[in-house]
Amino acid sequence: MSDEVIRSAESFGVALEMKSVSKQFVGTLAVDNVDFNVKAGEVHALIGENGAGKSTLMKMIAGSFDDYSGDIYINKKKIDLHTPAHAKKNGIEMIYQELSLAMPLSIAENVLIGRLPKKGLFLDREQIVNETKRCLEMVGLDHLDPMLQIEEISQHEGQLVEIAKALGNNPHILVMDEPTSALSREEVERLFSIIHNLKKSGLAIVYISHHLPEIFEVADRVTVLRDGKKIGTKGINEVTSGELVQMMVGKSVTEFYSHTSHTKKNKRLGVEELSRYGFFHNVSFSAYEGEILGICGLSGAGRSELARVLVGLDEKDSGKVFLDNKEIILKNMGQAVANGIIYLTENRNIEGLALRLDVKENILAGLIPELIKKGIYQEGEGIDKVNELIEELSIYPPDPSRIVGNLSGGNQQKVLLAKWMACEPRVMILDEPTRGVDIGAKMTIHQSIERLSGEGNTVILISSDLPELVSLSSRVLIMRKGKIIKEMAKEECTEESVLLAANGEGL
Ligand SMILES: Nc1ncnc2c1ncn2[C@@H]1O[C@H](COP(=O)(O)OP(=O)(O)OP(=O)(O)O)[C@@H](O)[C@H]1O
Ligand SMILES: [Mg+2]
Repeated sequence: MSDEVIRSAESFGVALEMKSVSKQFVGTLAVDNVDFNVKAGEVHALIGENGAGKSTLMKMIAGSFDDYSGDIYINKKKIDLHTPAHAKKNGIEMIYQELSLAMPLSIAENVLIGRLPKKGLFLDREQIVNETKRCLEMVGLDHLDPMLQIEEISQHEGQLVEIAKALGNNPHILVMDEPTSALSREEVERLFSIIHNLKKSGLAIVYISHHLPEIFEVADRVTVLRDGKKIGTKGINEVTSGELVQMMVGKSVTEFYSHTSHTKKNKRLGVEELSRYGFFHNVSFSAYEGEILGICGLSGAGRSELARVLVGLDEKDSGKVFLDNKEIILKNMGQAVANGIIYLTENRNIEGLALRLDVKENILAGLIPELIKKGIYQEGEGIDKVNELIEELSIYPPDPSRIVGNLSGGNQQKVLLAKWMACEPRVMILDEPTRGVDIGAKMTIHQSIERLSGEGNTVILISSDLPELVSLSSRVLIMRKGKIIKEMAKEECTEESVLLAANGEGL
């Protein structure tokens, strides 16, 4: 850790204080008169339901808005934070909920953006490589070549590169907005040990997450927001997870589910000896009408790669795929949709949503050919469908004309699911369907998945949320290092048993 950061540890006082801050968007008071502070050397968790105002509150200190009200103090000095550059100059770095790495650029160009070392007029390549390596080392990614292009690294590496980029600027205050949503359990542990060291060196960290167990592992204090208002701040040892849920939703919620599994009937999807070299090999399985088939694996096991080949996003090298016992060869996602197969990607920004379009346009994106009847666009029919889905998934605000990029992260995830539900697919491959959604929304999405399978659709569920996977799936396939190594019946599946199997133990 650099000397600069260690020096700030000596103070260990309040690093950042927000007093009576508010932020209004057109039609929404996103942050309503909130007091918040974070001390040097602590992790302060910020929690609340989707749309509660967490990201907005933090974007305020990252300099995203020039029109907030209230006062912000850094190291007891009042400061106006109106541009990101200004925030950075004051030692504030924010890792955004939606990854913001730029393509097509290298890791080095992303990490050192705005501060690429120069020798005279020219870029200093040696310095660039060394400085990027120094940043990558802080997050345990020193094995990556700084010159690799961003699209060549995985999503979880991307998440860690974002963190490396932020740490490279030696911040005093670091905001992490749902940093673990793309990480597997091992990577989360690695991140926690990084956070632990950063804390010891005196960094003030704000940590936003929907996973309460993580909060109890990593945080010293926790603040709950609801509808833009602060409900309270507690020391982590003074509060239980039930109490936090109650603070978030305003009532007590009994978590989880006892789902019914639907009996197997006809084979819907057949996969025989499917391979994509370097990713997965000789994968064979069947999925039945009305079933929720879970796929569990550690990151790098090949789950998403398998899904991508099944919907024609990537090419297979060998093997066959059958739909209703007929072989299908899909060359792109459009052909998959035409065959009633959809893939809810784990990467909603890049492959899922058009952030500049509104909710209605996004939800209807896959349906346009169907809505054009006799050459006329059936707008009314489309709107009815959109409104039904907004209601079923409790998309907030319930307004079809909202720009999707302006919705909170969890609500964007619901729009993505709605978009695929609108196509009325027969096979849905859902990759981390509840990433970034709060407890209530998670239950809503689970109910929708249940409804769809109850109506005879086949759901293939890829999820690293083990309670979700175990409770929803009627069977679970365990993938490891590109192979299906085990199939587990519902009765055999517990969180522990699937995790052990995914780790290659107990086989
Ligand atoms: N740019 C914007 N324009 C209009 N409204 C916005 C904008 N950004 C956020 N909002 C609204 O402000 C409210 C708070 O959103 P915010 O993104 O802060 O929620 P969040 O607590 O981070 O939720 P999530 O857990 O889903 O990420 C929401 O109602 C959202 O729709
Ligand atoms: Mg958010």
